[in-house]
Amino acid sequence: MQSYSLFAPAKINLHLEIIGHRPDGYHELVMIMQSVNLGDVIHLRANGKDEIRLFCQNPEVPLNNTNLAYKAAHLMQQQFPKLAQNFGGFDIVIEKNIPVAAGLAGGSTNAAAVLVGINLMWSLGLTQPELRDLGALLGSDVPFCISGGTAIATGRGEQIEPLPDLSDIWVILAKYSNLSVSTPWAYNSYREQFNHLYISDSQGINQRTRQVHSGDLVKAISQRNSEQIGALLYNDLEKVVLPEFPTVKALIDAFKAENVLGSMMSGSGPTVFALCDNQNQAEAIANKVQKTINDSNLHCWVAQMCTHGIIKQ
Ligand code: C5P
Repeated sequence: MQSYSLFAPAKINLHLEIIGHRPDGYHELVMIMQSVNLGDVIHLRANGKDEIRLFCQNPEVPLNNTNLAYKAAHLMQQQFPKLAQNFGGFDIVIEKNIPVAAGLAGGSTNAAAVLVGINLMWSLGLTQPELRDLGALLGSDVPFCISGGTAIATGRGEQIEPLPDLSDIWVILAKYSNLSVSTPWAYNSYREQFNHLYISDSQGINQRTRQVHSGDLVKAISQRNSEQIGALLYNDLEKVVLPEFPTVKALIDAFKAENVLGSMMSGSGPTVFALCDNQNQAEAIANKVQKTINDSNLHCWVAQMCTHGIIKQ
């Protein structure tokens, strides 16, 4: 049986809107998600043993059954017990490049890579929609990470519809290594402060979702109008995260003071991204902002939007 290496891109949210409560305790969302080519590499091979073993050079990554990559492998073993019995467990090596607990779906994209990798390794022939259904059992962002590119995500975030591809736009990602934001905390704080604005009827939820579908950002994406895309970035979670983390707000302001297309927090943060039309400009602005803020905990990466999710290396 072969071993596989998979590239697992990070994601940013160009639009993250919280619409209402869901009976399952999650939030009804409408998001526009975008893959970027800053990614982890996942090496997967059968170990002939009865266990799933994780390896990672980054000590922040848990190497036990709390890791989503572990959960993905375990889920496949449960779904296909005969194959698990025949072929045994896996060694999963995670080459971590995506910052951890950053709002970039690092854990989710690792899980997505494990699902795609085991599908190949066991010759299961699962389709992308079937893989996304399995991914949804692991986390709300896993289904998007499987197919990636540019997409609108609704429901819990697990219902994915592709949008026209974007790949010309460059993305500066910036994160303080000493800051992390708990996603449940961000959503719970939002619920505490803003649940009076939630739409509770399914008709209203569908209507709002359709409005985003036919809205200006989707039009700008279809027209590949990078200026409009930058101007229309939107994230409800900024309302709770930025007041609590003023350095994240200051970072967004520092990018906005430069000639970027737009800047915003990704997901529940604390990573901030800024969009630029070309690589030189992105690198120059990343350097300048790092110099201006002058904090050794601030790290910047320059990446590009990409048109795919998990791919074989
Ligand atoms: O699905 P996932 O495990 O990635 O979600 C992490 C947390 O984010 C959930 O426990 C929940 O607090 C919050 N969340 C939410 N509504 C969503 C997605 C995530 O409230 N649609």
